[in-house]
Amino acid sequence: MSSWTPRSGAIGSRLVDTLLTHLHSTPRPELGEKGQSVDETLRALAAKKTGDVPWEDGKLFGLVHDGGPSAREVGEHAAQLYMHENMLNPLAFPSLSEIQEEITQWTARLLHGPDGACGFVTSGGTESIMCAVLAAREHGRQRGIDRGTVVVPESAHPAFHKAAYLFDLPIVTTGLDRDYAADIDAMAAVVDERTILVVGSAPQYPQGAIDPIPQIAALAQTFGCSCHVDACMGGHVLPFAERIGREVPPWDFRVEGVDSISADNHKLGYAPKGVSTVVYRSPERAARQVWDLEWSGGYYATPTLLGSRSAAPMAAAWAVMQHLGLEGYDHLVDVVLTNCDSMRAAVNAIDGLRVLGAPIAQLFAIAGDETAAAPVPIMPLAAALRDRGWVHDIQTRPDSLHTTVSNINTRAVDRYPDDLAAAVADVRAGKYG
Ligand SMILES: Cc1ncc(COP(=O)(O)O)c(C=O)c1O
Repeated sequence: MSSWTPRSGAIGSRLVDTLLTHLHSTPRPELGEKGQSVDETLRALAAKKTGDVPWEDGKLFGLVHDGGPSAREVGEHAAQLYMHENMLNPLAFPSLSEIQEEITQWTARLLHGPDGACGFVTSGGTESIMCAVLAAREHGRQRGIDRGTVVVPESAHPAFHKAAYLFDLPIVTTGLDRDYAADIDAMAAVVDERTILVVGSAPQYPQGAIDPIPQIAALAQTFGCSCHVDACMGGHVLPFAERIGREVPPWDFRVEGVDSISADNHKLGYAPKGVSTVVYRSPERAARQVWDLEWSGGYYATPTLLGSRSAAPMAAAWAVMQHLGLEGYDHLVDVVLTNCDSMRAAVNAIDGLRVLGAPIAQLFAIAGDETAAAPVPIMPLAAALRDRGWVHDIQTRPDSLHTTVSNINTRAVDRYPDDLAAAVADVRAGKYG
C-alpha cells in the first residue's frame, strides 16, 4: 500500500491547507510565564469565537445540531457532572458501564435489534464505523479470510475509506442509481468469497438517499460476509419518522443479514459533540471490536479505539435521551421533516434548481436543473446564500449544496425560500461573477 499524501488543488484543498496551517506557525505562540485569572482566561477564549459561524442563528446546515433549550440545558449539566471521570476503567466508575448499557439498549430497541443485540458508545460516527470495520475484519479472519475486501457505494462516508487505510484492507467503490442510492447490480458484480464487509447507508450524506439495505444484506448472506448499515445520520430520525406515520423503507435489524448499525447521538440524537453508538446483532459480533493485552502495567482492555476518554459526552447523550424520551424525538423529527418538506418544495419551485434524487430524511442536496433552459450555477449560488447568512457545504459530482436540516434551523427556515429566490436572482443578474 502506498503512503498517504493529502491532496491539494482540489476544491477541498482550502480545508487541507487550514488543517495544516499550524504546522508552520510563525511567530510561534508562547505560553506566558504567569497564569491568567479564570475570568481573563475565559474572556480570551470567548474572544476567539468572533470569526466562527454563528450557528445559533439557525442558518448553518449540519455541523451543529441542537435539540432546543431544555435538551441543551440537560446535556450541558450532565456533561459537567461527568467532566472528569475516565471511561477507560469502568471498574473505577461502574456508573459509566450502566450508562453505556442503557444508551446501547435504548438504541438497540429503536433499531429493532433482536434479543441479544448490544453495542458500545464511541466518540463519534467515524469511530463507530471504524469499530464496525474492525469487527468485520476479525470476523473475516475467523472465517480464514486475511485482508478481505470492503465493498462500499461511492456515497459511503469517508470513514470507511479511512478505516480501510488504517486497518490495511482493500476497499472497492461501486456506483449509484439515478436517485443516488447504491446500485445493487454494481455491488453484486464485485462482492465475492474474499469480501468481508458490505455497506449501505440510511441515509447517505451527499444526497440523503437510503440505500437498498435488504438487497445489500442479502448479498452479505450469500457470501457469508458482514453487513454494516451506516445510520449515523438516520439512526435518531428514521425510527421516529416511522412512529409518526411516515413511510420508511426497510433498513434496520428487521432486515435479515444486517450485522451492525452505527447511529450518532451527537447528530440528530441532539447530544453535544463526541458521542455515537454502534450496535451489533449479537454479543459475539460486538466482542470482535474489543482489544486487550496483559503487560507490565497490568491488564489493559479497550472496547473502542481510544484509551482514556471523557465520560462527559456519554453522560450528556444519556441525559438528552432520558429527557426527550420517545415522544420528544417524535416531536423533533416531525418538526425537522416538515421543515425539509417545505425547503425541498421551495427549491423545486425555482426554475433552474432541483433537489437531487428522492430523499425522504433530513438531508438533501440542491443542484442546478440540467433540464431547465438555464440551470442555476451552484458555486455562485453558495456565495450569494452565504452573503445572506446561509451556510451550506459545497459538494461536487455534481456541484450541489449539501443541506442537513436539524431542529436548530427551525429558527430561520421560514426565511429560506425568499432568501433562496433572492440569491438566485442575484446570481442571474451577474452579481456573483
Ligand atoms: C452518513 C454519515 N456517516 C458517518 C459520518 C461521520 O460522523 P462523524 O463526523 O461524527 O465522525 C457522517 C458525518 O457527517 C455521516 O453523515
